[in-house]
Amino acid sequence: MNLKGRHLIDPSDFTLEELNQIFTVAQDMVDIPEKYDKICKGKILATLFYEPSTRTRLSFESAMLRMGGKILGFADAQTSSVKKGESISDTIRVVDGYSDIAVIRHPREGAPKLASEFSQVPVINGGDGGHQHPTQTLTDLLTIKTLKGNIDGNKVALCGDLKYGRTVHSLIKTLSRYKDMEFYLVSPPQLQMPEYVKNFVKETYNVKIVETSKIEDVIDEVDILYMTRIQKERFFNEEDYLKLKNSYILTADKIENAKEDMLIMHPLPRVNEIDYSVDKDKRAVYFKQAKYGVYVRMSLMAHLLGVI
Ligand code: NCD
Repeated sequence: MNLKGRHLIDPSDFTLEELNQIFTVAQDMVDIPEKYDKICKGKILATLFYEPSTRTRLSFESAMLRMGGKILGFADAQTSSVKKGESISDTIRVVDGYSDIAVIRHPREGAPKLASEFSQVPVINGGDGGHQHPTQTLTDLLTIKTLKGNIDGNKVALCGDLKYGRTVHSLIKTLSRYKDMEFYLVSPPQLQMPEYVKNFVKETYNVKIVETSKIEDVIDEVDILYMTRIQKERFFNEEDYLKLKNSYILTADKIENAKEDMLIMHPLPRVNEIDYSVDKDKRAVYFKQAKYGVYVRMSLMAHLLGVI
């Protein structure tokens, strides 16, 4: 299997076998990082971030630096030629001459895909509007695989802003490809998972989906509780956001009867949907999850660059 030169725009760009290959190498990178600390010597990663980011950009940069490569890019498009009106297709045609691989985050859905059509180097979607976030999904899957041993057969609750949250769109589409998955979608009625995503996974993979607005309905049942932030920046007015911002606040007492080995995950940043009292519970794995994000991005880039 050869991933060299490929783009990652949508998680379904890769087969399950290819994803598995990325996870296997990522797990080896966790165990023996020194084996990989020079494999990207001479390679340059470009990070083009047209929207705010902490984890995604820094974990990509950390990943490239940990493999002996170098980085360049911008974290604020207002300091780049975008401010002068440059199009993304022109920017990528310049940047591909300065780098060997590029990650792009953009508020417009489809922008990284458009860039990939013009690019001579692999392009990775670092999140496009409320659409997709494939490398967060790789991070989530590596976390589940490592901590649970298996992705198949899990009951997963996705909770929070399922309408605008791009992480959960990519995640449900990808988890649905595994065997015997069951999903509980927990959100206020105004923030339900878009019909196009639900219909796609139901029709394509025949998965079981139950929708509710109460976390208490599902907490004792699930193997994975995936919390998300209400996506303030995607609301059309502040008033609607204020009404919904505290829809879910997970506290230590709410998880008392949950399964012993349930994983509480979150792509981060959290606002107040998980109380700090939950952090010391061994089931709370969101900071571990953020760390797995570095290793999975190392493995992804090493494969796309063909150095592995
Ligand atoms: C997420 C994102 O940008 O979509 N953050 C991340 O990359 N870990 C989640 C969020 O912002 O809520």
